[in-house]
Amino acid sequence: MQHHTTVGIIGGGPAGLLLARLLHNHGIDCVVLESRERDYVEQRQRAGILEQGTVDVLRSCGAGERLDREGLVHDGIELRWNRRSHRVDFPALTGGRRVWVYAQTEVVKDLIALQLAEGAPLLFGAHVHAVEGADTDRPVVRYRHEGREKTLSCDYVIGCDGFHGVTRSAFPEQARRTYERVYPFSWLGILADVAPSCEELIYAHSPRGFALHSMRSPEVSRLYLQVPNGTDPADWSDERIWDELEARFAVDGDWKLERGPVTSKAVLPMRSFVTEPMRWGRVLLAGDAAHIVPPTGAKGLNLAAADVIVLARALAHLEETGSTALLDAYSDTCLRRVWRAEHFSWFMTTTLHTDPAQSDFDTRLQISQLDRIAASPHAAAELAENYAGLEIG
Ligand code: PHB
Repeated sequence: MQHHTTVGIIGGGPAGLLLARLLHNHGIDCVVLESRERDYVEQRQRAGILEQGTVDVLRSCGAGERLDREGLVHDGIELRWNRRSHRVDFPALTGGRRVWVYAQTEVVKDLIALQLAEGAPLLFGAHVHAVEGADTDRPVVRYRHEGREKTLSCDYVIGCDGFHGVTRSAFPEQARRTYERVYPFSWLGILADVAPSCEELIYAHSPRGFALHSMRSPEVSRLYLQVPNGTDPADWSDERIWDELEARFAVDGDWKLERGPVTSKAVLPMRSFVTEPMRWGRVLLAGDAAHIVPPTGAKGLNLAAADVIVLARALAHLEETGSTALLDAYSDTCLRRVWRAEHFSWFMTTTLHTDPAQSDFDTRLQISQLDRIAASPHAAAELAENYAGLEIG
């Protein structure tokens, strides 16, 4: 069976779903193929911090209603090290910018509901096994759905299929350059049925390793511990997790970490990765298919949103004017922001985590950097601007 669409989108995560909404607004038809089932996609846990630009685009495509009702607006984060704490005030340091805490699972649920309500094709359980003809006028996507082999021919194919997706392999090996760093530690992430013990996120440096206190709602906390690679979550009882979190967040003054039932535990690897270019012929990559950041800077979803904003604008420009100028610039435009976010995520990761091989000298450098952020509004502003989101066109 063969069918045709203007834009074939591989992957129904935030990048693919948001792109489909933006194209719909421009009257450009598309089909979204997602290999997993809807439940799985809606439960996948990822960092839940949205920059202003991401919130603006979600609102503009009709996905802002629940976000505006249930999202938590945050004006800063807290850093902890050496039993002291320092608040980084985003609006004061960035000319008014702030961030929203709204889980990726919720962004995805809102986008899926919209997509299905308006009847645009979004297929779950559609297993793409090949993308062919990237340098022809009609690339094709071969996939299996409901037990049948199908072919989707497209004007353009967009790979929003994540780090493990197949689209990247449609680029010839010799045309691709990849840059990568795998960190010598992972995160153990938990969800707990307990009110957050803080109003803003806490990023803690400790000789025992990094810890992060985040949240999902006024009743649900999200917390992370740095753990060795290869850690089995089964080795971490609830009590061991809470004891370790308490030790790493320890601070002078009266602050208490509230404990509650742990409802989910998972270990996440930490990786930095970029593939260049992000376009080959009529196949383009967006989001995690092209770049991975470690979650310390909470940039993953925001980078994916930034990619698809640039892409939707470029495809609309082509539709309206016949010019491929913006599409031709897509890769360079996106990579400027990608590399900024890569640097920031690496900076947050290496400043706050304890590398098992690190020397006392390295630890002193980390402490000096954190002291500097506390002492200098310039150093703090550098963090705040990157965290709250930079204007990079
Ligand atoms: C989260 O809420 O899951 C979260 C928040 C901030 C991060 C990473 C994860 O940097």
